[in-house]
Amino acid sequence: MKLNTINKEGIDRLMEIFYEKIRRDKDLGAIFNAKVGTDDEAWQNHKAKISNFWQGMLLGQGNYNGQPMKVHIELPSFPREFFDTWLKLFEKSLNQVFNEEMSMVILQRAQMIARNFQNVLYARR
Ligand code: HEM
Repeated sequence: MKLNTINKEGIDRLMEIFYEKIRRDKDLGAIFNAKVGTDDEAWQNHKAKISNFWQGMLLGQGNYNGQPMKVHIELPSFPREFFDTWLKLFEKSLNQVFNEEMSMVILQRAQMIARNFQNVLYARR
């Protein structure tokens, strides 16, 4: 059943579904596997970290205290269009877990963050 509320269980489910899609994506898979690793333990750690990130964003809880902007600046550069793929996979995953209203709330946060990242990563010099 699709959740009509945002809670930790829903976010954890979202992480499982989203990062399975990411790992299989022809463009994004390689970028993530190069950084996160390819074994399941590394991916469990990654999913737990990003779950905490979203718990912080959406619920004001969790233990995430990293620097996402810095992490993405330091990745090997990749085409801007990859953000569209990221967002599409995220939206599909949201729709598998949350109802339409909650999916929209979370998607809007993701779009905002994605826009901030892109403004910095692809700023004209
Ligand atoms: C095409 C777009 C993106 C790519 C290729 C990408 C790639 C990555 C990779 C490879 C990592 C792992 C870095 C590491 O473990 O060293 C990472 C971490 C992370 N990403 Fe992304 N990302 C993208 C978009 C986003 C967006 C839109 C968000 C948020 C809405 C996001 C949130 C995060 C967070 C919170 C981390 C953890 C940072 C930390 O280690 O503290 N990413 N990303």
